[in-house]
Amino acid sequence: MIYAVVNTKGGVGKTTTAVHLATMLARSGEALLIDGDKQKSAASWAAWRSENSGSLKLGPSPTTILLGGKAILSEGKTLASKYNYTVVDVGGRDSAGLRSSLILAQMAIVPVGASNLDAAAMTDLLELIELSRDYNPDLAVRVLLTRVDPRTKDTAEMLDFLKEQKLEVLTTKVCERVAFRRAIGEGVIVQELGKDRLAINEMEAFFEEVQHENKT
Ligand SMILES: Nc1ncnc2c1ncn2[C@@H]1O[C@H](COP(=O)(O)OP(=O)(O)O)[C@@H](O)[C@H]1O
Ligand SMILES: [Mg+2]
Repeated sequence: MIYAVVNTKGGVGKTTTAVHLATMLARSGEALLIDGDKQKSAASWAAWRSENSGSLKLGPSPTTILLGGKAILSEGKTLASKYNYTVVDVGGRDSAGLRSSLILAQMAIVPVGASNLDAAAMTDLLELIELSRDYNPDLAVRVLLTRVDPRTKDTAEMLDFLKEQKLEVLTTKVCERVAFRRAIGEGVIVQELGKDRLAINEMEAFFEEVQHENKT
């Protein structure tokens, strides 16, 4: 199974989502995490992870590699065939990389924040998804609301917008929580950090939903 975590917008939680998904998948099989972003955030996370592996008690790790542009499709395909699960953390600005990941993947997970800016930035992405359907007609697309502030009405408005766009939205919402930032900085996931039960519940619920969607 190959997942691509995509959005043309930065700072929406792509890397956070990708490393959590890849590490949760690594519990049940060999998982590959492709860092498709020149900023190398997922690769940095993996480096911090190996530095901390002596002092912290960690679960299984995904194998992390860096790929960019069209290599995400060509190299990615060969590599993905050797793993049970592949997750691509796609760089927002690398349009060749983004297109390649949308052709490579079986499921695109689109983290979005709940602001007008997030909605406006989705037009480009929706066009790219439509184009990729010529090569990858079975691509499943699921939107994940991230960095949610439950005190505002923004989320309800964003959900209306997504519905208008006929996008399938996961029920799980990931809220803005310090634990996510901290986990990434230490090369772990919130479950391994073990400090924020709500953050853990959100990630586990997201994971269950994604796995359930694969079976239906
Ligand atoms: N749910 C969250 N709660 C708090 N901070 C978050 C959350 N998701 C992401 N962040 C933080 O926001 C910033 C951008 O997240 P990141 O996952 O790197 O996004 P992207 O890969 O889309 O640019 C990072 O500093 C990250 O730690
Ligand atoms: Mg990123």
